[in-house]
Amino acid sequence: MTALSTPSHDGIDVRVIVTNDENELAAIAQADVQAVIYRPPPPAWLQEIAEAVEAGRFRIARNILPDVRRDEIARWLEGDLPTGVVSDQARADLKDDIVALTDRLHSLTGAVRFMLRIFTEAPSTECSFHVDTVPPGAPAVGLLRVYNGAGTDYVDPTNLTSFADFYRYLGRHERLRRDRRTARQDGDAAALLRLEREIAAHGAARPFLRRPDENAVAPAGSIVAFRHIDVRHHWSDHFKARAWIHSSPMTGTPRLVVNLTSPQRPPRRRPARGGDSD
Ligand SMILES: [Fe+2]
Repeated sequence: MTALSTPSHDGIDVRVIVTNDENELAAIAQADVQAVIYRPPPPAWLQEIAEAVEAGRFRIARNILPDVRRDEIARWLEGDLPTGVVSDQARADLKDDIVALTDRLHSLTGAVRFMLRIFTEAPSTECSFHVDTVPPGAPAVGLLRVYNGAGTDYVDPTNLTSFADFYRYLGRHERLRRDRRTARQDGDAAALLRLEREIAAHGAARPFLRRPDENAVAPAGSIVAFRHIDVRHHWSDHFKARAWIHSSPMTGTPRLVVNLTSPQRPPRRRPARGGDSD
C-alpha cells in the first residue's frame, strides 16, 4: 500500500492512496486526499461477467439515472441488466455489488440520493484526461468501479504542475475537438487531417505533467473514491486535492463501468447525543 504526496501551492501535501484495505476508503474525507484506490480481491463471479462483457455478449447502453434512491437503483438493475448471457447467480452478484456501492457512498458522504452512470463500452480515442464535476453544493466525492479490461489512467498529484496548467491544456483540447466535429460535419478533409494531427500532438505533449512519460493506473476491479470538482470551481487554479484527473484508456476490449455520485446535498444528520452537530 502506498501513499504518494506532493506539496500543493498552499503547502499541504496532496495524496492518492492505493490500498488493499477497504477501511482506507474513508480517508477520502481528509482534505489532503485526492483519491483512494482500493483493490479488493477479485470476487468469484467477476470472471464470468468480464468474459461476457469483453466478448460483447453482456452489453449495457450508456445509462444515467440522475436522481435515484438505493431501492430505485436495485429495481433498475433487476429490470435492466442483461438476462440470459451470464448465470443468474453472476447477474445477481453484480447487482448486489453495484447496490453495495450506494451503501459505501452513503457511509462516506451521507448521501441518500444518487446519480448512477453505467455502461459497457470499448475505449476510443475520444477519451482524454478530465475531472468529473458535481452540481453546486453536492458532495464532491464519488465512486468509480471499472469491472474489467484496461484500468483507468490518472495523474498522480506529485506529477501535476498545477490546475492552471491542466485547465489550459483541457481548454485547448476541447476547442480542438469542437473544431474537429465541425470539420467532420462540413466534410472538410484537409481541416480534419490537420486537426487530427494537432490533437495527437497536443495529447502527447501533456504540458501539465512534471514527468510526461509517467502513467499511473487504477487497475480494473478496483473501487476508487475520488474528489469531484464543484462546478463553481471548475477551470479555476484550485487546490490540487479538490479533483482527480483521470482518463479512460484509448484502446482495448469493452469495459463495464459504474460511476456513482450524489446529485444533491445530503440531509443534515441529527446532532449526536450530547450536542455536537456536523
Ligand atoms: Fe470521469
